[in-house]
Amino acid sequence: MTATLEVEDLSVRINSRRGALPAVQGVSFEVQRGQAFGLVGESGSGKSITLKALLGLLPPEAAISGGHVRLDGEDLVTASQRRLRQIRGPEMSMVFQEPMSALNPVMRVGDQIAEGPRLHLGLGRSGAAARAVELMRKVGIPDPERRFRSYPHQFSGGMRQRVMIAIALSCNPRVVLCDEPTTALDVTIQDQILRLLTALCAESGTSLVFVTHDLPVIAQVCQTVAVMYAGRILERGPVSEIFREPRHPYTLGLLRSAPNFEENRSGLVPIAGSPPSLRSLPGGCPFHPRCPFATEDCSTAATELRVVAADRVTACIHDDRALHAQLLQPVIS
Ligand SMILES: Nc1ncnc2c1ncn2[C@@H]1O[C@H](COP(=O)(O)OP(=O)(O)OP(=O)(O)O)[C@@H](O)[C@H]1O
Ligand code: SF4
Ligand SMILES: [Mg+2]
Repeated sequence: MTATLEVEDLSVRINSRRGALPAVQGVSFEVQRGQAFGLVGESGSGKSITLKALLGLLPPEAAISGGHVRLDGEDLVTASQRRLRQIRGPEMSMVFQEPMSALNPVMRVGDQIAEGPRLHLGLGRSGAAARAVELMRKVGIPDPERRFRSYPHQFSGGMRQRVMIAIALSCNPRVVLCDEPTTALDVTIQDQILRLLTALCAESGTSLVFVTHDLPVIAQVCQTVAVMYAGRILERGPVSEIFREPRHPYTLGLLRSAPNFEENRSGLVPIAGSPPSLRSLPGGCPFHPRCPFATEDCSTAATELRVVAADRVTACIHDDRALHAQLLQPVIS
């Protein structure tokens, strides 16, 4: 079966005054129709840059330096700007981490939501407005008929995030990229939005790529997950297996330091140290300066992703279960 979204060996460089920085290196994953794929990792690991690269929305100082992004087989890396503009929104949309920067400050929010359906779904002005009101209601914006006429600055951060989600869903795209879509929202609304996104996948076959720091949210929404660190994927596979039995010490560290995991009620164990700078990435395994299992080999070994089980890969050369078992116990009760 061809995946709706296929990312193969994607690399992104950021040009700085002191040379090119490898912000994303050899990232690969697939998302099937109607499935949700999660991307997790600490701040600065390259999650947002990866999502922006998928849609050709990188900042001017960044560029794709290799790889492919295929939407139902069509390569977007080699697509023309014109074709990308046709795809962005109606075919593949994005909920940005910073809603204010993505909304037009001088356009009424209702018109911003109605714009896509008018241009791409062939709806007339009143049909598109009705669709916008319906979407506003779905994402939990109270009194949508009245709020239709508000401007972004009249909305709270959480409300703006919901407007962004409504815009992203407005044309029933094949893929929705979500960058921390619910971080600014309270728990009830977060749950409502997550249910909406999950229902959308099931009903319309929309595929999701979901970036979040919140591991239980990944567990709630996604079927597969990849763990990113210093621009690379260190582990990838089915959520149910990876969260139950991580095969990379970094994944284990993320799980043990996740504050809202039921299994961590006996205490959190933060990951020692901090992620490396892109300017001075360590050789061998990028996680070795922080890894409790590191051996001498780890600072020199090639840490390519290896298949460890059906649909599962890890970049750890010492991924054997026994090694991690002592730490696994407190994670999974
Ligand atoms: N415009 C830019 N110029 C220079 N460096 C950048 C730029 N955008 C991102 N970076 C760098 O690229 C790396 C990846 O950034 P990215 O925003 O993708 O991280 P992230 O995983 O989304 O983090 P967060 O969880 O904080 O959102 C970081 O080291 C960041 O400093
Ligand atoms: S390769 Fe070595 S340093 Fe890297 S995660 Fe595995 S044990 Fe730790
Ligand atoms: Mg980000």
